[in-house]
Amino acid sequence: MKDNWEELENSIKSCKKCKLCTTRTNIVFGCGNKNADIMMIGEGPGADEDREGIPFVGKAGKLMNNAFEGLKINRDEIYIANIVKCRPPQNRVPEEDEARACLDYLRNQVILVKPKIIVLLGSTALKNILGKEYGITSARGKWIEKKGILYMPTWHPAALLRDENKKIEFWKDLKLVIEKYDEIKELK
Ligand code: URA
Ligand code: SF4
Repeated sequence: MKDNWEELENSIKSCKKCKLCTTRTNIVFGCGNKNADIMMIGEGPGADEDREGIPFVGKAGKLMNNAFEGLKINRDEIYIANIVKCRPPQNRVPEEDEARACLDYLRNQVILVKPKIIVLLGSTALKNILGKEYGITSARGKWIEKKGILYMPTWHPAALLRDENKKIEFWKDLKLVIEKYDEIKELK
């Protein structure tokens, strides 16, 4: 557990805890407001993210940004990270040992950000954070509270590319997040 961001990021830069370190170009640490009330967690870097070292800059990220614009969410206001920090080859789902090896870094990020709301983007994020017993199809769109944090599971933005219905549901889920965020801000 690191208590500052620089040390945490540096330890990931030299990380060799799983086999993804052998194929990465850059680690994708995370980005955004380090004191955000809302944190979003994806799966892992794709080709564009691996090249740039920033999460959600490719196709899926553009879809996410469209939703943010439509709902007036400022991307700089939230914090965005992934389950694994290095790109899985051919964008496959991270394997169990990879996710397990990397998860401590994400836990450390959550401890440093102290978000009130965590949006879980897709099945990989949901299962690794809340447990294998959850399925994204039935869990999405409903709040789950654990240890003082409100979790909102929703579709992974890449799933929206193929399915208009999911796009509508994704927007709906993010709208719930914004409403809750507004409530929290009013209480402050
Ligand atoms: N998909 C993810 O899960 N994360 C990214 O950063 C980009 C695409
Ligand atoms: Fe380390 Fe995570 Fe990269 Fe694996 S994916 S090498 S655990 S930083």
